[in-house]
Amino acid sequence: MCGIIGFTGTLPVKDVLIDGLERLEYRGYDSAGIAVLDRNEGIVIKKQTGKVSGLREATENMELDAVCGIGHTRWATHGGVTDVNAHPHKCGQVALIHNGIIENYRELITEHGLKDRLVSETDTEVVAALLDKMYDGDPFSTIRDAVKKLAGSFALCIMFEDQPGKIFAVRNVSPMVAASFPEGSIIASDLTALISFSKKYFVVPEYHILTLAPDQITVQDMKGKTVTPEILEVNWDIKSAQKGGYPFFMLKEIYDQPEALRNTVTPRVKDGLPYLVDDGIDDTVFEGIKNITVVACGTAMHAGMVGRTLIENKLRIPVNVEIASEFRYKDPIIDSETLTIVLSQSGETVDTLEALRLAQRKGSKVLSIVNVKGSTIARESDYVLYTHAGPEIAVASTKAYTVQIAAMYILACKIGLVKHLISEEEARAFIGQLQNAGEIIEKTLERADDIKRIANHIMTAPDVFYIGRGLDHTMSVEAALKLKEISYIHAEAYAAGELKHGTIALISENVPVIAIATQQDVYSKMISNIREVKSRGAYVVLVSMDEQTPDQKVCDKHIRLPEIQSEFTVFATAVILQLIAYYTSDAKGLDVDKPRNLAKSVTVE
Ligand code: AGP
Repeated sequence: MCGIIGFTGTLPVKDVLIDGLERLEYRGYDSAGIAVLDRNEGIVIKKQTGKVSGLREATENMELDAVCGIGHTRWATHGGVTDVNAHPHKCGQVALIHNGIIENYRELITEHGLKDRLVSETDTEVVAALLDKMYDGDPFSTIRDAVKKLAGSFALCIMFEDQPGKIFAVRNVSPMVAASFPEGSIIASDLTALISFSKKYFVVPEYHILTLAPDQITVQDMKGKTVTPEILEVNWDIKSAQKGGYPFFMLKEIYDQPEALRNTVTPRVKDGLPYLVDDGIDDTVFEGIKNITVVACGTAMHAGMVGRTLIENKLRIPVNVEIASEFRYKDPIIDSETLTIVLSQSGETVDTLEALRLAQRKGSKVLSIVNVKGSTIARESDYVLYTHAGPEIAVASTKAYTVQIAAMYILACKIGLVKHLISEEEARAFIGQLQNAGEIIEKTLERADDIKRIANHIMTAPDVFYIGRGLDHTMSVEAALKLKEISYIHAEAYAAGELKHGTIALISENVPVIAIATQQDVYSKMISNIREVKSRGAYVVLVSMDEQTPDQKVCDKHIRLPEIQSEFTVFATAVILQLIAYYTSDAKGLDVDKPRNLAKSVTVE
C-alpha cells in the first residue's frame, strides 16, 4: 500500500523525504515522488514511476531552499502506473499525497466542475482540485469542509503554497502516525519512516486536522477544538527494521522467529500457566463463550486456521475461520456468545478492520492478535493480545505467522482452563511445550541447506502441490501462499485424502509434490497418498519426523524434523515451508522482500 511521509523543520527536507520513502518501500509501490515548498520557487514537485533510488538520482542536483515537504510511494489503485498518476498531485495552490480510495471522486468532479482542472486518472488529484477550488486562505476550514464531502478511506498530507513551513493532514481508516522532535515535525504511514527521529509518537486520530509546524504539531477536531493525542513509545529499535547483514529482510525475519516467539510467549506465562492479566484480558472474557469466530486475511487467516484445529481438537469448542473480505458482506451467525478473534500483523488491513466492526455490531466481543502497537485494529478491539515479533518488513509474512500461532495456542490453553476443559497439569505441560517452540525452530533452521537443495529443484516447475492431513493440511495452505507470492510459481494446497477426487489428474512426471506428514494419527494414510502421486511420476519431498527415510519408492527427498509432539510440529513445518519459498524466489533472482503487485499492508478494499 502507498507510503506517506511529511516533514517540516530544520533538517534538509529533501533528504528526510527520500530517506523516509526508502524505509517505506516495503509497503509495496510502483512509483514515487516528493513535493517541497521552496522559499523562492514555491511548491516544486518531482515524481516518477519506478524505484525510490531512481527518484533520489533524479532529485540529486535539485538546488532547493525548502522549508517543508511531502513524499509518497504509490501502489496504484485508480489509474495506470505513469508519471502523471504518481503522487504528489498539485492543483493551483495545493499539493497533496494520499493513501486510500476516494469512492465518490467521480461525483465530486461533476458536482464541483473539476474536470478541466485534472490531468491524471487518479481519485487523489480530484481532492487536490477540490481543496484548491475551496481554498479561501484558511487551511483548517478549507480542509474541514472538503473532508466532509469525501467518501472512502484517506490519509492525506497537504501543503498550501501560501503556508510556508506548514503541512496539514487528516485521515479516515488509512493509517498515519506523527511525532514532534527538536529538529521538526514528521508524519508518516507507519513507524519505520519516523523511528530514526523519535521513539515517541502518536497515532493520528480519525477526522482530526493536524497542522505540522517546525516547532509543534497542533491536533484539532472538526469543530476546531485542540486535542492532545495519547503519546506512545516505540517498543523496538531501528536495528529491528534493518537487514542486519542478511541479503533480504525475509531471511532475517525467518531467523528472528525464535526470539519473536520467546518475546511473545514468555510475558504470558506465570507459574507455568497462561497469564493474560497484564494484557487486560481477564478470565471473564472467556467464561460465557459458546463458539469462536476467527477473522483475518492471508497468512494471518492461516495462523487462525492452525488455532482452530487445536481448539476444536482439544477443547471441542466450535471455531469458524472466516475470510475477512467475505465475512464483512455476509450476515454472519454470531452473537454475544461468540468470541471473535481477529488476527492482523499490521493492524491496518481494511477488510479485517471492517469485519471487526461488523462482529461488534452483532454483539460479539472482539479479541485481536496484532503485531503493531496502537494500530487501528488494536485500538478498536475490545481486547488486544499483542505479538512481539518486532517490525516485519518483508511483504511475505513469516515471524508474524508463527507468533500468531503461538498467541492462538496461549488463548486456547487459557480458554481450556477457564472453562474447565483441561486440567492445570495438562495446561502446564502444554505451555511447557509452547515455551520450546523457539528451540524447535532453531533445530529446524540447522537443516536450511537441505531445504535450499529442494528449492533449486522446484524453481523451474510451472506448478507445485503441497499436500497434508489435519494440521499438516492447514500448514500446506500457508506454504502454497508463501511460494506463490514470492516466487510467482503456481502452488496449490490440497487435503491429501482429497487428491484422488480429481486433482491427481494434474500429477505427471516430475511434478513437485511436497508432502507434509507430521501428524502421527494419519501418518499411514499420508504414506498411501504419497505412493499414489509417486506412482504417477511426481517428485516427492517428504516432510516428517521419521528417523529413517521410508523406502525410496515413497519420496525423492526427505526433510526430517526433530521428534516433536504433534501439535507443535507446526513451528518446524512453518520454517521449512518459509525457507522453500525463500530459496526458490532467491534462486530465480527475484526481489524476495518486495514481490510484484503486493503490498505489506492492504489498506484498500
Ligand atoms: C502474507 O505473506 C501476506 N503478506 C498477506 O497475506 C498478509 O498476511 C495479509 O495481507 C494480512 O495482513 P495483516 O496480517 O497485516 O492483516
